[in-house]
Amino acid sequence: MTKKLERGKDNEQERRYQEYRMKQNNIVIDAITSRILRIHSAEMQKDEVCETVSFAIEENMPKEEIKVSEDGKTGRREWKTDDLTVLMDRQGRLSIYNQEDVLLCADYAGNRKQEQTLSEEELEQLRMEGHDAQSEKEALSFCVTKALYGDETIYGLGDKTGFLNKMGYDYMMWNSDNPEPHVENQTFKALYKSIPFFIVVRDACVYGIFLDNTYRSYLDMGYESSQYYYFGAAGGTLDYYFISGDTIAEVIKGYTMLTGRAPLPQMWTLGYQQSRWSYESEEEVLALAEKFREYGIPCDAIHLDIDYMERFKVFTVDQKKFPDMKKLSDKLADMGIKLVTIIDPGTKIEEGYDVYEEGVQKNFFAKDEEGNIYQNVVWPGDSVYPDFTSEKVREWWGNLTKRLTLQGVRGIWNDMNEPASFCGPLPDDVVFAGDGKERQHKEVHNIYGHLMAKATYEGLKRNDGRRPYVITRACYSGTQKYSTAWTGDNQSLWAHLQMSIPQLLNLGMSGMPMVGTDIGGFGANATPELFSRWIEASCFAPLFRNHSAKDTRRQEPWRFGEETLEVSRKYIALRYKFLPYLYDLCYEETQTGMPLLRSLVMHYQQDKNVRECNDEYLVGDKILMAPVVQQGMRARMVYLPEGTWVDYWTKERITGGRYILREAPLDVCPMYIKGDSILPVYAPMQSIEPENITKLTLEYYPADGREASYTHYQDNGVDFDYQQGKYNLYQFICCQDKPQEMQTVMLHEGYRKYQEICVECR
Ligand code: GLC
Repeated sequence: MTKKLERGKDNEQERRYQEYRMKQNNIVIDAITSRILRIHSAEMQKDEVCETVSFAIEENMPKEEIKVSEDGKTGRREWKTDDLTVLMDRQGRLSIYNQEDVLLCADYAGNRKQEQTLSEEELEQLRMEGHDAQSEKEALSFCVTKALYGDETIYGLGDKTGFLNKMGYDYMMWNSDNPEPHVENQTFKALYKSIPFFIVVRDACVYGIFLDNTYRSYLDMGYESSQYYYFGAAGGTLDYYFISGDTIAEVIKGYTMLTGRAPLPQMWTLGYQQSRWSYESEEEVLALAEKFREYGIPCDAIHLDIDYMERFKVFTVDQKKFPDMKKLSDKLADMGIKLVTIIDPGTKIEEGYDVYEEGVQKNFFAKDEEGNIYQNVVWPGDSVYPDFTSEKVREWWGNLTKRLTLQGVRGIWNDMNEPASFCGPLPDDVVFAGDGKERQHKEVHNIYGHLMAKATYEGLKRNDGRRPYVITRACYSGTQKYSTAWTGDNQSLWAHLQMSIPQLLNLGMSGMPMVGTDIGGFGANATPELFSRWIEASCFAPLFRNHSAKDTRRQEPWRFGEETLEVSRKYIALRYKFLPYLYDLCYEETQTGMPLLRSLVMHYQQDKNVRECNDEYLVGDKILMAPVVQQGMRARMVYLPEGTWVDYWTKERITGGRYILREAPLDVCPMYIKGDSILPVYAPMQSIEPENITKLTLEYYPADGREASYTHYQDNGVDFDYQQGKYNLYQFICCQDKPQEMQTVMLHEGYRKYQEICVECR
């Protein structure tokens, strides 16, 4: 977003700029709402006069009145909205209070105690022994240090490795493609995504901070000291948002109001998807689709990895392996299966290759500091990088997707967009010319994948008209508006299955709801047991895709023998059964930013037992999953939060607020329904064809006799007609003693209606 305001023009923002500019300190505080503050450096505005460029925040944000006052004697300054008060002391330290005068967050009063770093000699010695020794962190262009009070747990920060609670660890935001096994974050400080947003939960309050900075940034969550946490970046100026709320949900709502929400997906994209690096030919893909149907396993998509291209040239198709892609996609469509193809940014340098030649001719590729097109090596060999900071380039790239969609391709999977490079990292000073606003790689790196996803989304939307289906590996804050995402190259390790739960939950708490892991693990070889537990654990992951690397054991559900096949069939069918619930959660997310998969702390914030719950999750607020993520385990402890829960498999009613022991043979993933819930379900299907869905069943799980109600959303599941009001909202109401009297209330005369709605009392 660029809001250009010229000095001297009589406008509101200019007035505010003058008014709030600090005399002795260059901090400016704007109120977006009474509970969301933007705290930024006035310096930035000296040159650019209120120009705001945010790659995460694209909509014009509302502005709320903020009152500023200053005590001439003490030098204290105060900002006040209806909900928050910020005090600045003489040293420029901020303290933020809520309406009840509870201190929510304060700049740390002492000095940082930075660790002693090793000398170059010592580092060299360590490196000789094969250690990956790093010298001290680079200089930060600003650093904000906030006090810790000892009761914090911290969530969010995107796809970082490790556990749910990020307290006590330090992280870096620098989109990274690292093929080594992703282990706990003390060695893996950065992965593919940079989402510098985190939520701090304390006993008395909750708040979020979003550092809107695209440079390499560092977020130390109490690792350096238990007295404070800090965040800062290697470039750019101070610019962060303080988001308060009574609950985690309100903070997420605020953050996604700023950075946007995932739009409604095409319904089929919630189905099971089969991928592998690579399905190599038309025959192989057709045989694969037929196998799914033969085994009666629902499947909605098959993904083609890099080998479908002609020598890895993007937007080409290898005519030997795929002589008639259109015919293939038509045949698949008859079986209810869609094709999704991978597209990397690295564009092969080759004379006569039109994408390369056009890009060179139009100046669409990034350059080195001398003005030559910058080259590195990726899958196609010597390659160049499109400059996605330019709108023209994004439009060009987005339109290139037509080459695939005209052949029936229904989704684009964006990979290697950190951007990855095989011949050393791109130097910091590689130049992205933009549309006249030049930027260096060090500023663009973390938004490269974000802008590629945006280009792809907008191209698909322009040219296809259906809701675009994009998957991306690299992200920045706000990528949720354009794309689903997966967690990159995990491995078939129990540790990675365990990590998949907190990773997806933290992505959800970072505004990215439509996420998934490579089911079964990408690298290394899965065992039947690991694969079974993975499909159980991911059965409600918004992106439900099985993917594996070239040289590994094949991972289609039937590859591991009868028992695993049965488990796969059971959990994939379970997923399809609850599709209307998942789709309702997608709708809810568009209204609130609440992710589909939720950590227990999101709904039971006051319950300390759930603040670090790494191996359970909620689907919406009505289903609790407690997957087994340990080899050989056939029973597990399950923590059920307060209230009555119904064991989905046995229908037993259990009082929560305690741990229970649940038997979990290989084919059982412990699953609980919140008592007095109504859940919508579909009849079994092999693929998702919304136009053929005419019946909805409501399952009712009575418990304590509380009145149950449920809001159900329905539209055509394909295009943007819902934006013209073509959807239905149903409200179902049920009393425990009269389950048969469940009412269906139509709230909206809409687009499509079920011919039958039946009620099942569980
Ligand atoms: C990267 C991707 C992986 C893909 C491979 C080949 O490693 O993360 O999913 O299969 O490249 O394209």
